[in-house]
Amino acid sequence: MLQLQGINAHYGKLHVLHDISLTIAEGERVGIFGHNGAGKTTLLRACVGDLDECSGDVRYRDQTVGRGEVHRNVGFGMGFVPQGHNVFRDLSVAENLEIAGLRHGQAALAEVHQIFPLLKERSEQIASSLSGGQQQMLALGMALMTRPSILLLDEPTIGLAPVIVRDVLRSVTQINRTRGTTLVIVEQNVQATLENVDRAIVIKSGRVIFDGPSQKLLDEESLWHLF
Ligand SMILES: Nc1ncnc2c1ncn2[C@@H]1O[C@H](COP(=O)(O)OP(=O)(O)O)[C@@H](O)[C@H]1O
Ligand SMILES: [Mg+2]
Repeated sequence: MLQLQGINAHYGKLHVLHDISLTIAEGERVGIFGHNGAGKTTLLRACVGDLDECSGDVRYRDQTVGRGEVHRNVGFGMGFVPQGHNVFRDLSVAENLEIAGLRHGQAALAEVHQIFPLLKERSEQIASSLSGGQQQMLALGMALMTRPSILLLDEPTIGLAPVIVRDVLRSVTQINRTRGTTLVIVEQNVQATLENVDRAIVIKSGRVIFDGPSQKLLDEESLWHLF
């Protein structure tokens, strides 16, 4: 269980997150939505201890998530995929996975290959020559090499063609189904994401303005002005 209690975050004088408290259960699939600049990325960074100016309490599986200790928090089972292409472009697919999985090695690799067979087929291909969707798959595969129990993804489908968006989101859901991994996904592709998560959280100006079943947002178009 991931628990945030009274989180306030600042960048210098800018107060970005205002007193956010929420709990995410094991195995839950959560989408986080909101306008540009709402504070979604900052919220994910708060979850993994990647912020300097953050007060409040973050706990994961009863351990305190320390500020500025992202590497230690990875050891607790937290996997974070920041926005953008997070692969070593000049290295092969296999080398990228190897670097990401120094702690777990072959067993983790077999698991990643099972979830993303393409990453096995393309082992020797240089990452920069993969398509955008394939690079995103590789970034996900790299995060999985640390065997996370919770995966936090910042706009995993940004810049991808609509048909690929659904592929990537389906792959992510498959990780949840096969490994029970808790998912927290920040997304601009709201509709496609709502179809793949159980719960939706909407952030506006650093505050939670909706937190409920994703089906409720899908059903009630009157709520769509929220994001
Ligand atoms: N490193 C930073 N330094 C200063 N301001 C930042 C930084 N990162 C984000 N911000 C500001 O904080 C606010 C929230 O940003 P962010 O969490 O990235 O929003 P979102 O991911 O919802 O688009 C925005 O006003 C943004 O300009
Ligand atoms: Mg962002």
